[in-house]
Amino acid sequence: MSSDNRPIGVFDSGIGGLTAVTELRKLLPNEDIIYLGDTARVPYGTKSRETILRYAEQDYRFLKNQGVKFTIAACGTVSSVMVGENAFSADFCTGVIQPTVEAACKASKNKKIGVIATSASIRSGCYERLIKQTVPGAEVFSKACPMFVPLVENGYTAPGCAPAETIAREYLEPLKAEGIDTLILGCTHYPLLSRIISGVVGSGVSLISSGAEAARYAGGFLEENGLINESKRAGSLKLFCTDSAELFRESAAHFIDLDGAEIEKCSLD
Ligand code: DGL
Repeated sequence: MSSDNRPIGVFDSGIGGLTAVTELRKLLPNEDIIYLGDTARVPYGTKSRETILRYAEQDYRFLKNQGVKFTIAACGTVSSVMVGENAFSADFCTGVIQPTVEAACKASKNKKIGVIATSASIRSGCYERLIKQTVPGAEVFSKACPMFVPLVENGYTAPGCAPAETIAREYLEPLKAEGIDTLILGCTHYPLLSRIISGVVGSGVSLISSGAEAARYAGGFLEENGLINESKRAGSLKLFCTDSAELFRESAAHFIDLDGAEIEKCSLD
């Protein structure tokens, strides 16, 4: 049986894309993963489309130069500006939008779907367009939640955390009032707030995590294209960041068990 032992690349503006890495490691424990977090330039979600595209291109090239076989742009913001761009589509690469929309459309019974993401992602309108193409007649209720990323970056994620719960109610009560039965967490940071989010919208609303769906898509793609690493040893995780490795380790500890993972500061110039 052929085996492709090259690593999988995952990138994000910061640490949020580690939610995709967590899912990838569950699904494909033998794969080596190289992660890049552009921590020196995070957040992307408040920047212009041109700037986000330029950054994304540099992130992507960095991983290609590391010899990855497939890349996940595990950043909702990057993914939303990538839609319709040829820059990435020629290569083996996915963003989070398509896999997430497919999962949400499958999960929704009443065709009322909420989308929360960064300002840039919501401004792009790509979730709404794709949901309506997939499920004609669907109603989409979108909300930019710019204060969620700093809450997560600072570890304000546990149920009972008063600032996080107040902000979540402010953002999410209008969506709940619309009767959504499915909510897309269109930013890779948001799954870290899922218990608080669920507490506001109710346990009957299915939460769809963009990082996890992109990881599942990548797994299926590798399988179908004969790109799986068939070796039986545990895969490695190598992390790169563009700001201090110590700060990265501190913030990432909220997301993932980094035991043994090597973290290196790199330059994208
Ligand atoms: N990673 C970004 C996303 O998923 C959130 C952080 C940022 O704004 O850069 O949209």
